[in-house]
Amino acid sequence: MGKRLLPFDHIANAHPCFLDPEERPDWAGLFQNGNPLKLEIGFGTGNFLIDMAIREPQSNFIGMDFYHKGIRKVITRMDRLHLKNIRVAYGNAGEKIPILFDEGELSEVFINFPDPWPKKRHHKRRLITPQFVEMLAGKMAPGGTLHIATDFEAYAQAILEALQADPRFFNLHEDQGYRHEREDIPKTKYEKAFLDAGRKIYYFEFSKEPDYVLAPTA
Ligand SMILES: C[S@@+](CC[C@H](N)C(=O)[O-])C[C@H]1O[C@@H](n2cnc3c(N)ncnc32)[C@H](O)[C@@H]1O
Repeated sequence: MGKRLLPFDHIANAHPCFLDPEERPDWAGLFQNGNPLKLEIGFGTGNFLIDMAIREPQSNFIGMDFYHKGIRKVITRMDRLHLKNIRVAYGNAGEKIPILFDEGELSEVFINFPDPWPKKRHHKRRLITPQFVEMLAGKMAPGGTLHIATDFEAYAQAILEALQADPRFFNLHEDQGYRHEREDIPKTKYEKAFLDAGRKIYYFEFSKEPDYVLAPTA
């Protein structure tokens, strides 16, 4: 890929695939179809998002991040490849997901190598917490799958506990809780670097119960 990236200001002011919304967009109207919505949180430089969108033209991908250079890379590349099934939603996932999606709307969610914040005093900055998992579970479609990858063992343990605590999710890797290899979907930039360095990776796949129905409120 060439080095010339679209400037961030130009993207934020004028690019039709860049969104910084304060309320839920009409997703089907934006994509001009009702294909399944799939969200990648923290796409970084966007390689995985682009590869997935190419692989699945019948899915609509939303990438969420606030990393300007990554947004410039992904939008520049989408334009070059004429990809129509990606939108970039700018912002902090904890704040944006609750307002951008209806309950049960996301058929798949991917979180690849969220920042581990290893120091105890920084744990509160971690993206994946029990509250975040609870919010995400509500937004996911029954039967939809949440994919998470991390190389950081202590974070993996905390993620597993948060996922197991939500009765709406069941673990696709019941035996160990996770798997150490994931060959069925594209690799991210961080993933390639960690694999090259020989690090062990924890891959989680949890699906939302297909027949989960909200208990009626009194
Ligand atoms: C360690 S990088 C991983 C990038 C990419 N997923 C990969 O595997 O190569 C984490 C990414 O998550 C983004 N991020 C961190 N916290 C976030 C949040 N609360 N909402 C959205 N994106 C976030 C960062 O900007 C960064 O791009």
